[in-house]
Amino acid sequence: MAPVSEQDNNNNKKALVVVVGATGNQGGSVARRFLQDPRYAVRGLTRDPASAAAQELAALGAEMVRADLDDVKSLEAAFAGANIIFSATNYWEPFFRPDCRARAQQLGVTCRRYAYDVEYAQGKNIADAAATVVDSLATNGFLASTLSHAGKCSGGRFKDLYHFDAKADVFPDYVAATHPRLAAKMSCIQTGFFTTSHRILPESYFQKLPDGTFEMRFPCSPDKPIPHLDVNHDTGPFVYAVAQMPPGKHYMAGEYRTWAEFVKAWADLTGATVKYRQVSFDEMVADTADRDCGIEVALMFEYSSDPGYDGAMDVLKAEDLRKAGIDCPMLTLEEALARQDWTPILNKPVYKSS
Ligand SMILES: NC(=O)c1ccc[n+]([C@@H]2O[C@H](COP(=O)([O-])OP(=O)(O)OC[C@H]3O[C@@H](n4cnc5c(N)ncnc54)[C@H](OP(=O)(O)O)[C@@H]3O)[C@@H](O)[C@H]2O)c1
Repeated sequence: MAPVSEQDNNNNKKALVVVVGATGNQGGSVARRFLQDPRYAVRGLTRDPASAAAQELAALGAEMVRADLDDVKSLEAAFAGANIIFSATNYWEPFFRPDCRARAQQLGVTCRRYAYDVEYAQGKNIADAAATVVDSLATNGFLASTLSHAGKCSGGRFKDLYHFDAKADVFPDYVAATHPRLAAKMSCIQTGFFTTSHRILPESYFQKLPDGTFEMRFPCSPDKPIPHLDVNHDTGPFVYAVAQMPPGKHYMAGEYRTWAEFVKAWADLTGATVKYRQVSFDEMVADTADRDCGIEVALMFEYSSDPGYDGAMDVLKAEDLRKAGIDCPMLTLEEALARQDWTPILNKPVYKSS
């Protein structure tokens, strides 16, 4: 089945894929995958078309246009004529940016809550702008990167796992409540743990002990299968495959493997000795340089243990796409780990808690 039908594609014209976050990990992978198919033209959104990442995509053939997720009018203009929109939002930029931290303090809210408000508002802007071009969208033309709703999926146990709920409150909830015609053309794509996330949590992933061995320490069961995703390599092929499905379904991009399997794969690859230790919420917070980040991620690890990273939702995976006859090539966890240079981690100094 062609990703966009001839009717959707207006016969001989290339179908236009508009990618939010094209200069980032998820969007960059999606833009690159669609650029490989001559039936598509790709328009990438960025705040700075002159940036190196934007220029790189332009050199590959993408039309790079300026748009700001805080400015719905700029999104409406950027979405004009879209047959497919890929949407991704970034909780962590307003979470870490010093000016946003200062603003959160002025408002008397935590940076965690502040980043929720920004991500929610940006997601809402994307949905509102996409609704203005709903007629040109393909039958499955609104592909939204999201996560499970921790509050709902945990029966209210997790009230403030903000970087999950900021996404799920919009994709699908706000879209379904506000823009039913857009909702009818939407697929919700949850993304697994990025296999590169050790870069943002160096002590929890690979803490170097005085004897030179390593310890991975999360408040998550070692035996709970968790989806792992090579975000740069595999988001594009997964989203491209989803575009060939009918709308209205929920997906998980990533291979379900336990943390016990993760450490074994890493040890086999690097020759290092590493063990997994399930720690408490407080221990993870203490291990994380930024306290608020520690709280947000420790909540995520607890949630991913029970009820599960996907909230125990019924999600379609790469193997389900393949069963539907759609090609969906994805790396195994071992292959994803093998793509990275682990030398800096193997050579890092022994951890000293402050
Ligand atoms: N780390 C993990 O394991 C993991 C797992 C699942 C989900 N996630 C989620 O993944 C998201 C981050 O995705 P990513 O890694 O693809 O992000 P990324 O690589 O940091 O890229 C962010 C993208 O968003 C664009 N952007 C940000 N603010 C914008 C604005 N105001 N207007 C227009 N564009 C804007 C940036 O474009 P310009 O800078 O060019 O404007 C850039 O293309 C987070 O929300 C996180 O919760 C992470």
